[in-house]
Amino acid sequence: MAACSFRRSIASQLSKVLDLPPESLIKSISAVPVSKKRHVADFQLSIASVTDNSSSGCLAQDLHLQAEKLAERLKCDAVVSEISAGPGTVNFMINRELLAKTVLHQVLKDGLEYGLNSELFSAVPRQKAVIEFSSPNIAKRFHIGHLRSTIVGNFIANLKVALGHEVIRINYLGDWGMQFGLLGVGFQCFGNKEKLKSSPLQHLFEVYVQINKAAEDENTKKLAKDFFRKLEEHDEQTLSLWKQFRDFSIEEYVRIYKRLGVHFDEYSGESFYQEKSQEVLKMLEDKGLLQKTIKGTGIVDLSEKKDLSSFSTVMRSDGTSLYITRDLAAAIDRMNKYSCDAMIYVTDKSQSNHFQHLFQILKLMGYDWAERCQHVSFGLVQGMKTRKGEVIFLEDVLNEVRSRMLQNMASAKTTKETENPMETAEKVGLAALIIQDFRGLLSSDYQFSWDRALQSRGDTGVFLQYTHARLHSLEQMHGKVQLTDINVACLQEPDAISVLQHLLRYDEVLYRSSQDLQPKHIVSYLLTLSHLAAVAHKTLPVKASAPELAQARLCLFRAARLVLASGMKLLGITPVTQM
Ligand code: ARG
Repeated sequence: MAACSFRRSIASQLSKVLDLPPESLIKSISAVPVSKKRHVADFQLSIASVTDNSSSGCLAQDLHLQAEKLAERLKCDAVVSEISAGPGTVNFMINRELLAKTVLHQVLKDGLEYGLNSELFSAVPRQKAVIEFSSPNIAKRFHIGHLRSTIVGNFIANLKVALGHEVIRINYLGDWGMQFGLLGVGFQCFGNKEKLKSSPLQHLFEVYVQINKAAEDENTKKLAKDFFRKLEEHDEQTLSLWKQFRDFSIEEYVRIYKRLGVHFDEYSGESFYQEKSQEVLKMLEDKGLLQKTIKGTGIVDLSEKKDLSSFSTVMRSDGTSLYITRDLAAAIDRMNKYSCDAMIYVTDKSQSNHFQHLFQILKLMGYDWAERCQHVSFGLVQGMKTRKGEVIFLEDVLNEVRSRMLQNMASAKTTKETENPMETAEKVGLAALIIQDFRGLLSSDYQFSWDRALQSRGDTGVFLQYTHARLHSLEQMHGKVQLTDINVACLQEPDAISVLQHLLRYDEVLYRSSQDLQPKHIVSYLLTLSHLAAVAHKTLPVKASAPELAQARLCLFRAARLVLASGMKLLGITPVTQM
């Protein structure tokens, strides 16, 4: 990693002056973000992070003074060509030719791996992580939260895999519970086997809506209860109908996940854990954690003072399990099966309480690994509607974004003849959805807007795709880029330097996202990269330039495209080469 060798070199000089080990300094040296008022410096050391200012409540002035003093004691060398002090920072400028040479060499050599092997990650132990995401409910509507869970979970899994961790992707289907009683009765009244086969999710949803209207009726309620009881008793006919609901639904999910470029290692579900939840209840009882209420339900006291000011219900009065009981069983089962270092659940924030309770109960049961469980939550998406009205199914969203994108592409002047416009529109449309979703903090709600998501020039996924396609065709147009013997003296224009400086920061951005699992750092990095590349594309022409110059610029653009592609893939976007 290019940035590493520079950081290391700066750290080694600093280490002598400050009498601190170089390893401890490396994290305090960061690449300077490229901004409109161009900085000459490439790296900065934050003074606060290397001096002991804890007691003094240090003033900004003092920090500046300290920075100046430190800067004075440092010397330029073959790597660093300029040292200056800023407000609280010491700034380093790398020898210009060395900057271009090292960055380009590294990006072109590492390709899509660039940044992933940075020493910033060297202190992070390799882990095995179970990531549970998407997890739709078969009987209920596939709401937009499941799309969010799907793309967020996929991103976290992609990032972890890219950083060398082992990942198990689990889809934990909502395939058990009282709603199946209702659905079963509904199917007996309004169901149609043919429709169930041809479009299961749609049909089950219709049945669910119809029977829900009747559900107020006492008789229907009783029938639903009976149906579910038979299911729990494993009555053959009932079970076989339920199994059909499940199998057809999974088939359809798999098809949709394929369109999203998402896969799972395991399709699990609540239904797997009926018996095991009974074991959990037994364990809770044995450990003295299960209390019975007057109504006969089973609860676990979660309050500190053991005064029931906070508790969780884990058993119905008839002894059957609840959502949380099945989750307890599933967590224990997963840990037994995978002995993982981290267990991550991705759902909307309305379930935060549920997961807090889940982890608390596991802890009370004596499972220390409960501390390694994490709920990654996200906010609501408001106003996602198709042209026809309210969005219900994920597939409607995918179809809609594809058709809107096709239309935009057909009317845009810049659109090239593409071999497969449908496929391109699908990939670009998906990029638009993902970037709109990932731009902010995951926990924030946001207002969905087709127009904003699909703008071709704004901060959108469409813009990323467009930039990638343009850079790709630039390379195609000029034949094979020769990667050796670049004359780096040709890359000294400010617009070229900005791109290089930005490429230096990629590992830091990956590091941040890997720490807080927020995709927004990568998103804004890629948007900036695309803007910088667009400017450079304008001011640094390849066509009609002398061969040496053209060659150097092509290398720069190729490096920008590779990093763009790498980041997009982590986010779950397939870069297009034409649009
Ligand atoms: N099926 C649930 C829902 O759609 C999400 C499942 C989340 N995962 C879990 N282990 N509880 O609300």
